[in-house]
Amino acid sequence: MKTTYKFLVITMVFLTIGITINACSSTKKTVTDETTTAVAEVEEEFKLEKSGAQYWGETCNRCHLAPSPADYNDTDWETISLHMRVRANLTENEITKIEEFLKSAN
Ligand code: HEC
Repeated sequence: MKTTYKFLVITMVFLTIGITINACSSTKKTVTDETTTAVAEVEEEFKLEKSGAQYWGETCNRCHLAPSPADYNDTDWETISLHMRVRANLTENEITKIEEFLKSAN
């Protein structure tokens, strides 16, 4: 009788520990996943919302001083954009935004 009681108590203790560990670890995992997803979503949003002026400041300075929008006229900027898109390996979205910025500010 006494042995059965001890066995029961030990079983209950291990069960409680097991349930606690399981509950804690699964909660932690869910929170981490949610945070990672939220961070990725915010990053994506900011990426999509970068302006032409931002892209111009970030990319056109890499190899030479970024030329001022006033340096060339609209027709020149079209040719230069094609040329620099190839040089800088830019996406269509990036070069379109940069070109729009350069044309709007000259
Ligand atoms: C990967 C390096 C690199 C990046 C990034 C770059 N350029 Fe250039 N750029 C060059 C080189 C090299 C030249 C000299 C002409 C040549 O050899 O192609 C040049 C020349 C120019 C010229 C002179 C006219 C011409 O077409 O040759 C202009 C204007 C210019 N770049 C604007 C820009 C703008 C605007 C950006 C941003 C979209 C940019 N560049 C990004 C490398 C780069």
